[in-house]
Amino acid sequence: MELIDYRDEFPVLAERTYLISASLGPLSRRSRALAEEHLDLWQRLGPEELWFDHGLPRLQMCRESFAELIGADSDEVAIVPSVSHGLSSLAGCLDFTERSKVVASDMDFPTDHYVWLAQAKRGAKLDVVRSSNGIDLEPEQLVERIDEDTMIVNTNRVLFESSRIVDLEPVIARARDVGALVLTDDFHGSGMVPIDVHELGLDFLFSGCLKWLCGGQGLAFMYVRRDLITRLEPTTVGWFGTKDPFDFDRSGLRLRDDARRFEAGTYTLPQAWTAYGGLSIILEVGVDRIRARNQELTQMIIDEADAAGIEVLTPRHNDLRGGLVRVRVPGGRPKAERVLHTLFDQHVVLDQRGDSLRISPHFFSSEEDVEICFRRLREVLKH
Ligand SMILES: Cc1ncc(COP(=O)(O)O)c(C=O)c1O
Repeated sequence: MELIDYRDEFPVLAERTYLISASLGPLSRRSRALAEEHLDLWQRLGPEELWFDHGLPRLQMCRESFAELIGADSDEVAIVPSVSHGLSSLAGCLDFTERSKVVASDMDFPTDHYVWLAQAKRGAKLDVVRSSNGIDLEPEQLVERIDEDTMIVNTNRVLFESSRIVDLEPVIARARDVGALVLTDDFHGSGMVPIDVHELGLDFLFSGCLKWLCGGQGLAFMYVRRDLITRLEPTTVGWFGTKDPFDFDRSGLRLRDDARRFEAGTYTLPQAWTAYGGLSIILEVGVDRIRARNQELTQMIIDEADAAGIEVLTPRHNDLRGGLVRVRVPGGRPKAERVLHTLFDQHVVLDQRGDSLRISPHFFSSEEDVEICFRRLREVLKH
């Protein structure tokens, strides 16, 4: 199927110039139909059939799809309610009296830092590398901070503000040398920038469905490298992480031997249906194709911004740029907010961070979307 033919899958595209999948991927007809399928099942069935015949298998389809996207095996993938939750579970497994340092950067998504700061009382010390320009983060900057006292390196493979891609290879190599672990918060990478976690030798990857995966909110994933799984003992636990949740046995805690030991309480079951809709579309289209199309469109956005004299705050080199382009609005944050809302009124949907706008085309976006966005943006900026 041609990429352009997928436009009809996403009804919002007929109504709006939707260039913000980096924040919330649009709802597809497929996810909507699946959500309705869940509601029908819920209406017709009791819990046994709903859960065992449909819900648990659907969750497994999500794990398998995500595993395929990142080059993992499905038993290395846990479903968690959010990246924050998954990270917190991991943090609780680590003994910071052995090694105290958590290397991170000031370009990470803030929730990552909150998780590590909350571990300060257990001995964790956050060591934050600073970006020199608010756009880039060189892997060497992380590498330099990794030493024998480093417990874990918190990376973001694609930075959420600037969309800079950080090469994780040297970071992982250095961490291996000193016995440290590496995680990546991959919310802006998975499904947009190809990755193979096995080939890379990555220890942990976290991502969620709601952005580039177009799967809606409430369902996220945690990948754990196979040989680490049983060495990690979560302290945030629940019955769905145990070997047999339905034996209702209180005599001990018997966690599963696969990554699902990180799953805890009752799943956000309805989301398994919408999430699968998005995941299946992304897999069907293919991440390589998505990446190639996104690069064409982000290059076009950069060219349009240059032609309009708007400052680009995203790497210009294709290999260093993830899915979005960030542009600065002259006049600071209040002006950027006004511009964003004026664009909403004109059915152009972007988002704003500080004094900048993020423009994020997906594989189904068109050249016309970009043209409309810049025609309106130029107009709005005149006032
Ligand atoms: C890189 C990154 N990590 C994490 C999050 C949020 O994670 P969660 O709300 O699933 O904890 C976001 C944005 O929503 C993000 O952009």
